[in-house]
Amino acid sequence: MIYFSTMNEICKRIESIGVLPVVKITSAGDSENLAASLLAGDLPAVEITFRTDAAAESIARIRKKFPDMLIGAGTVLTPDQVDLAVDAGAEFIVAPGFNPRIAQYCTKLKIPYIPGVNSPSQIELAMEHGLDVFKFFPAEAMGGIKMLKSLAGPYPELKFIPTGGISPDNLLGYLSLPSVLACGGSWISPSAMISEGRFDDIAKIASRTVSDVLGFNLSGVILGATDSDEAEPVLDFFASTFLLNKGETAKTFTAGTMIEIEKEKNKYPAGLIITVHSIPRVKAFLDRKKIGYTESEDSEIILNEQKGGFGIKLRQE
Ligand code: 3PG
Repeated sequence: MIYFSTMNEICKRIESIGVLPVVKITSAGDSENLAASLLAGDLPAVEITFRTDAAAESIARIRKKFPDMLIGAGTVLTPDQVDLAVDAGAEFIVAPGFNPRIAQYCTKLKIPYIPGVNSPSQIELAMEHGLDVFKFFPAEAMGGIKMLKSLAGPYPELKFIPTGGISPDNLLGYLSLPSVLACGGSWISPSAMISEGRFDDIAKIASRTVSDVLGFNLSGVILGATDSDEAEPVLDFFASTFLLNKGETAKTFTAGTMIEIEKEKNKYPAGLIITVHSIPRVKAFLDRKKIGYTESEDSEIILNEQKGGFGIKLRQE
């Protein structure tokens, strides 16, 4: 495998965000506003495509203004474009197809290369160059989720970033596949919106997308009790009144998924249970927002600060 650490680090960052806005920008003057709108929507990643002459300058401007943003260069078709992208500050190179010349050049420069593939033959050719993370392009047109599931059979170790035809309607379906690192696409920041200066709209789409990816859902309440004797009648009440199944974990009694009752006195009088699609992505999100938390042995996240008298617990759905 080539330049393991950079490739791994970049892929981990892409995976921790879960979506990669693919951008075609015609005027570099719009680039900072575009990046600011994605960041306002809590989306710190962008792929600027070399489909316009404004690509390199846009990357450079965003890199300068938002040094921590994850910036990739897309639609990179020649070694010259690789040079332009790297000089401008791109951290990884994306292309619609696999090109051995670009693969070799990226290896030489130690810049991660994520080429588009959509067939076993292309994949195997690219694997010969040490690659194991691919853009799956054009995802919907080439069989979508069904195709990715089929590819996971012979190539279980490979990871994909499906792009092409991804929308809010199919995003979560793709992200639920273990082989999918993240999804890419233009729906978050369509070029028309950029040129019309609709940056608030882009921020809203970005924020809604991040919310879809994380999937916060208030799913239950934790009630405090000093001991099991106090907890049991509360359990009986909720189970019989709201027709919920009784259950038990090491530390709580449960009534359905809605109510948990602590068996021993806890720090907070009550708590909220919020389920999420992906604990690793939520952890990355909380880190970015500088919200403190601790992680329990069973991978639940407990926010350090209570709110309104409630402790807040985040749990894998
Ligand atoms: C790309 O090159 O990655 C695609 O144009 C993005 O596809 P989409 O416009 O269908 O999202």
